[in-house]
Amino acid sequence: MRHLMSPLDLSVPELEKILDLASDIEKNPKKYAHTCDDKRLATLFYEPSTRTRLSFEAAMMNLGGKVLGFSSADSSSAAKGETVADTIRVVSCYADICAMRHPKEGAPLVASMVSNIPVINAGDGGHQHPTQTLTDLLTIRSLKGRLDNLTIGLCGDLKFGRTVHSLIEALVRYQNVKFVLISPEELRIPSYIREDVLKKNNIEFVEVERLEDAIPDLDILYMTRVQKERFFNEEDYVRMKDFYILDNQKLSLAKDDMYILHPLPRVNEIAVEVDKDPRAAYFKQVQYGVYVRMALILTLLEVELPC
Ligand code: NCD
Repeated sequence: MRHLMSPLDLSVPELEKILDLASDIEKNPKKYAHTCDDKRLATLFYEPSTRTRLSFEAAMMNLGGKVLGFSSADSSSAAKGETVADTIRVVSCYADICAMRHPKEGAPLVASMVSNIPVINAGDGGHQHPTQTLTDLLTIRSLKGRLDNLTIGLCGDLKFGRTVHSLIEALVRYQNVKFVLISPEELRIPSYIREDVLKKNNIEFVEVERLEDAIPDLDILYMTRVQKERFFNEEDYVRMKDFYILDNQKLSLAKDDMYILHPLPRVNEIAVEVDKDPRAAYFKQVQYGVYVRMALILTLLEVELPC
């Protein structure tokens, strides 16, 4: 049985297969409409979510399956003190696959160790978010036609932003990918990513503070919000929250074929005026998130694919 805790749980060929399947689903959604007719997905969300939970649910429904679950720790037995391990043992009796989001790093991994059904990490604390990475990779591949030979700018809260950590881990496996890490000093990328992922793989990267200086060289600009819920005090958050605001003026410095991605939710870091620019791809990215989760569910459930 396969689980998905980090993008590295998939080899590059496996990942390509999932992206190819997602692209086929995009072209022929009807073909897949009954592939999971007899399957159930449980969404176990101990932390707030709009896109991730609803896109998992939409993905399973698009495949003909059913969904069940909870959307906050308060509305589950966690509020009574039940452990994640006990909860997953119980959920294994109700569902065929589950997606779990948890504020504690490693909680989905603990669940996967005792689970009888595939567990998908839907975000664990400030650690990893592999299905957002699948979404990001599908978006980049669909818009740019490749995942190699790219200069990727990651901007904002690189310290706590789990989507950034997972995306870097996945992209260092492609040829000639360069990173421009744009953040305030206090929100720089964690040292384990800098040392064990970037330096260890001899990846070209720079760390800068000013978005204006970095933007002209980028093929992709990946914006992120400052992760309010991971700050220890409100004052630090307030000081950091509007550090970057991408507006039309800054965007005028970018290449015509640079795309802007954002895992969403957006707070202030992208001005609403940017939404009309053809390079704004963050709402398209949401749609790709459904296709790729459909492909992932089919893969982990080892469903026989229609020809
Ligand atoms: C991200 C997350 O939860 O880490 N959201 C998402 O899943 N699309 C990004 C964020 O919350 O900032």
